[in-house]
Amino acid sequence: MAGLSCRDHSNQNNIDDNIDRKWWKEAVVYQIYPRSYMDSNGDGIGDLKGIISKLDYIKSLGVNVVWLNPIYSSPNDDNGYDVSDYRNIMQDFGTMADFDELLKGLHQRGIKLVMDLVVNHSSDEHEWFKQSRSSRTNPYRDYYHWWNADRGKPNPRYSLFDVNHDAWMYDAKTNAYYLHYFSRKQPDLNWENPKLRKEVFDIMKFWADKGIDGFRLDAFQFAAKDTTFPAFPPGYEKEFSKYYAMGPHLHDYLEEMNREVLSKYDVMSVAEGAGNSFKDAHDLVDSDRHELNMAYAFEGVDIAKPEGYSVLHFKQVFSKWDSVFAEKGWLSIFLANHDQARMVSRFGNDNPQFRDISSKMLTTFIMTMRGTPYYYNGDELGMTNAGFTDIKDYRDVSVLNEYKHQQNIGADMQAFMKRTEFSARDNGRTPFQWNASANAGFTTGTPWINVNPNYKTINEEAEDKDPNSVLNYFRKIVKLRHDNRALVYGKYTLLDKNNPDTYAYTRELNGKKLLVTLNFRDHPAKVNTRLDIGKAKVLIGNYASPSTNGMLRPYEAVVYKVN
Ligand code: GLC
Ligand code: CA
Repeated sequence: MAGLSCRDHSNQNNIDDNIDRKWWKEAVVYQIYPRSYMDSNGDGIGDLKGIISKLDYIKSLGVNVVWLNPIYSSPNDDNGYDVSDYRNIMQDFGTMADFDELLKGLHQRGIKLVMDLVVNHSSDEHEWFKQSRSSRTNPYRDYYHWWNADRGKPNPRYSLFDVNHDAWMYDAKTNAYYLHYFSRKQPDLNWENPKLRKEVFDIMKFWADKGIDGFRLDAFQFAAKDTTFPAFPPGYEKEFSKYYAMGPHLHDYLEEMNREVLSKYDVMSVAEGAGNSFKDAHDLVDSDRHELNMAYAFEGVDIAKPEGYSVLHFKQVFSKWDSVFAEKGWLSIFLANHDQARMVSRFGNDNPQFRDISSKMLTTFIMTMRGTPYYYNGDELGMTNAGFTDIKDYRDVSVLNEYKHQQNIGADMQAFMKRTEFSARDNGRTPFQWNASANAGFTTGTPWINVNPNYKTINEEAEDKDPNSVLNYFRKIVKLRHDNRALVYGKYTLLDKNNPDTYAYTRELNGKKLLVTLNFRDHPAKVNTRLDIGKAKVLIGNYASPSTNGMLRPYEAVVYKVN
């Protein structure tokens, strides 16, 4: 918006002078996983009415955008990422009237709504697919990728969620294979077909006309395929993204989507994944390309491993991504979402002694970096991994199928369960912990997935009352971000680069400089910033009396105003 462009003519030499202000850059995005947020009718499944009942809570966080995981009609093979009708609401979640009420309730509170757009694939129960599989000559045949078995078996493609990891599923009805990069119930759509593209753009317009404020493009970097399906070298599946992502015509499709839909509304757009190189990432998001607004790069969130991770590596990755986008383009900043285990369990320390403090430290990191913060529901309470040890407790199609796969290949199942306990997506999908009553106040029925037993201590009601809770820290730091434009747009400079325990950086804009110091360890650590911290003003800290000399206590985080 031109009217918002901010130029301080008294400060012509400042490189930060010329900032391109956008609401989606200044926003804090709060991600809601509807299935697990709040159940209004006791069927054990979170729903839209449940979210509506929590609108004042969402408002109290200070966030400006809600991103909702898919709420469209779906048989729920992959919790809504398998859409059977893009213009309807999933029965479990409610009705279109509930949706309209939710959107209105958010807008009344000054909060925008971003919807998930799942169009790399649909459900196999979508009418398009039912038609498509019915005969080789059906008008919908080319909405998907088919390979007639008369031609033999196509070259292998890897499926993430299939029991055999085989992305080609044989369908006897027409003696042909269809392609599915995810589960068998998620056939990939054929973006080469202009009719399919038009259908998707019409769906986007349907929602944009309702007044939603943006789209998150699910798995879209895989949408474009080389439909000759050439052979890949052995082992390609270990780096399948290199072969699958950013296929031919992807940018043509995005340009068309921008021209047909995005450019006509005041909506934001964000891609899941940022391709395979910085060039790929820039090509997706640079404004002069007229494609998308931003993307998530996964390199940062992928750093966490069961055996721990190197703070030096963490700093190096986030610093590199920042520097590559310092002049052009825009990214998101996040440490968790519905596809990851809990932030505090992976990147912090979920031991009761350090859970609170390390959650606040990680939150400080997210809220003080350049890029739009995406914050996953429950992290504002410091919710931890569920750590299920019995396969019966898992619900995620990817874990259930991988379990069978590992059994089939005679793998060490104990080792598999151990890995899963740390990294499973279900860790981040347990019900939101509202209070200490049965099922954490999430449902009066039986929850679709077990509640984390620690809800008696970790819950919204208790944390709301405690001024020092993770929740109230989150509210304060969201406000701090909104009050300090330097945290959004300011130049980032890494300090004390080789310190293996701490992360320190400055953010500078128009002569204003903020300093962030973070200790990533469970022991004290000294950070050397060469700045006079003693004279700086503390803006926020996660200990009652923040450090003023660079000596940081375990997981201590302090943000200062240096000048
Ligand atoms: C994305 C979603 C994930 C889903 C997959 C298939 O990665 O975030 O939850 O399983 O796409 O749609
Ligand atoms: Ca319900």
